[in-house]
Amino acid sequence: MRDEAVAHAARVLRNGGLVAVPTETVYGLAADARNEAAIRRIFEVKGRPARHPLIVHIASAASLEGWARDVPPIAWDLARRFWPGPLTLVLRRAADVSPLITGGQDTVAVRVPRHPVTLDLLEAFDGGIAAPSANPFGAVSPTRADDVREMFAASGGVDYVLDGGDCTVGVESTILDLSGPRPALLRPGGITREALESLTGCELGGERPDAPRVPGQHPRHYSPRAKVTLSQPADLAASVEAALARGLTVGVIAPQGIVLKADARMLAVTAPSALEEYAHRLYRWFRDFDNARCDLIFATLPDERGLGSAIADRLRRAAAEEVQPQS
Ligand code: TXA
Ligand code: MG
Repeated sequence: MRDEAVAHAARVLRNGGLVAVPTETVYGLAADARNEAAIRRIFEVKGRPARHPLIVHIASAASLEGWARDVPPIAWDLARRFWPGPLTLVLRRAADVSPLITGGQDTVAVRVPRHPVTLDLLEAFDGGIAAPSANPFGAVSPTRADDVREMFAASGGVDYVLDGGDCTVGVESTILDLSGPRPALLRPGGITREALESLTGCELGGERPDAPRVPGQHPRHYSPRAKVTLSQPADLAASVEAALARGLTVGVIAPQGIVLKADARMLAVTAPSALEEYAHRLYRWFRDFDNARCDLIFATLPDERGLGSAIADRLRRAAAEEVQPQS
């Protein structure tokens, strides 16, 4: 069954089609990374602005040099330690990588996903697959095959959904840029800053959770339909009650220890203290709140350490006002 599904997916890719593939982070919308017509279709189907670079997924670090040149020793160390896994490395691109993948830049993003089905597919396909998250631009990334089917049912742009069950990590990969003078964290994700700093032995540049964000550059992304509002734990109950009093339907991700008065128009969940569990559930909850027709979602930020940085990053982006060129 699985072998047939994988063989079919490989055929679809070879014929220039689009396949939704499971990864440990979120589902990806995959195309043959050497087929420009197929890559163009990714942008069309997602409604993604052109020039937004895509991640190339490969079977193992052994094929890295097909995509990147001047790979620094630290990249090999990181690959040995974290691949397959939720770490994307930005490296100088090999000369023949399509500018559609790199957004015309001189760098390329590459990772080896940690999902048995997609690793089988990469082996069967015997090439790289370019894949952004399998959601329409700006929407919540899918963590189940059904999420993909629901989102693309109307447009019909996805040729095949390779079902690999629930994504375990639940938020996107960490993106580490190794193309500059020092490693920079471009997106917090499944591999923590702390783990990367411990292996690289240096403090990473790039976005820090406490760094000020430039207004107007704040990407609204990973967003449910409902408006997301970030609240301080001490204000949460009052904010929720005020929204309910206005007749709104609300979803709440409450921190541990805060008990809210039950209400028929409130769907409340408690943020698990284990951050892996929280990350695993975050996008699922966004979808549940949307399906329950919530007008507003209230959440508080977790401690921004470890996986907490990725969770806080996604909550902030979901709460941001401006729609921004991201993915
Ligand atoms: O976990 C993940 O990374 C998932 C799964 C499917 O692998 N993929 C994913 O892809 O999140 P996407 O397209 O939604 O996000 C990729 C991010 C974008 O923010 C893009 O700007 C960045 O990677 N990126 C890609 N190539 C880059 C490059 N050469 N330099 C800097 N950023 C790059
Ligand atoms: Mg995305």
